[in-house]
Amino acid sequence: MKDVVLGIESSCDDTSAAVVVDGVLRCNVIASQKVHENYGGVVPELASRAHQQNIVPVVSEALRQAGVTPSELSAIAYTRGPGLIGSLLVGSSFAKGLSIALDIPMVEVNHLQAHALSPFIRENETDPTPEFPYMTLLVSGGNSQIIIVKKPEEMEMIGTTIDDAAGEAFDKCGKVMGLPYPAGAHIDRLAAQGNPKAFDFSKPHIPDFNYSFSGLKTSFLYTVRDGRKEDPGFIESRRADLAASLQATIVDILMNKLKKAVKEYRPRHISIGGGVSANSGVRNAVADFCAKEKITAWIPPLRFTTDNAAMVATAGYFKYLNRDFSGLDKAPFAKTTI
Ligand code: KG4
Repeated sequence: MKDVVLGIESSCDDTSAAVVVDGVLRCNVIASQKVHENYGGVVPELASRAHQQNIVPVVSEALRQAGVTPSELSAIAYTRGPGLIGSLLVGSSFAKGLSIALDIPMVEVNHLQAHALSPFIRENETDPTPEFPYMTLLVSGGNSQIIIVKKPEEMEMIGTTIDDAAGEAFDKCGKVMGLPYPAGAHIDRLAAQGNPKAFDFSKPHIPDFNYSFSGLKTSFLYTVRDGRKEDPGFIESRRADLAASLQATIVDILMNKLKKAVKEYRPRHISIGGGVSANSGVRNAVADFCAKEKITAWIPPLRFTTDNAAMVATAGYFKYLNRDFSGLDKAPFAKTTI
């Protein structure tokens, strides 16, 4: 008998379903929501409505691609939190309904833990996986954390953002530059043609392994405001330099705390995850640093950087093996915790 786990992710603005068979990924289907583009950020009510529309077709497509029928499922893993409550409710209610209908157990998955366990997504049985304990830099539109993964079920968050997340810094500065939402990938592309030293944006001086991006955001805003006073075409003429300097500063902020954490915890493996781990500057900086320090770097393929159910099904598979099941009484939660 094979262990077949269906994973469901609906914490923010991506509806995703994936199937893992005996720990190996069979498929990962994602429906991204375009409705938010005009608003410069995710609109929670629109996100939950879109999840409601997407969830049945996305799960059906995942089962079709995996070549499994509902009756062959062993368990359903779903994201319980953190995230937007309305969005989480769609995935969790769907998982509960399916679990009752099929009479199979449910496994609740913490979204941050799923990101941290992403290096265990295996597309082939022979794919390598990291050794415990390892360190994860989790950077997305909602998160900026440094996590120590001791075991699949035991993690410690040693640093987190005290204000904005790294992705928000990209997105909000991108909005000031007139770029579409989400701006991260656009800034990444523009940065390749600009001078990373053209502008000097402020960096935080806060203790421990915590992050802060609000000072950078303010200094970016002031630079653009002052620049436009002198030249109304400032943004257009300096777009690439602004993007390159912004990206270099964000990468610097992320790497400073990661290096500090490595000095203290001495991990032998480091993984990165979350939408911002798609950034070329972040990927190169982590890879170079790890090579220098003789640390094994786990840089995910781009398709597993943003929110996806492959990581939920993978994290859920670990819990399924431990018979760590969730009850129908469990409600979603919004707050960042691991
Ligand atoms: O993990 P994710 O899909 O979900 C949320 O947390 O919402 O991350 C989305 C974030 C956005 O802020 C987006 O601008 C950022 O990831 N992002 C990037 C890149 N690709 C996506 N940031 C920088 N460079 C990129 N290439």
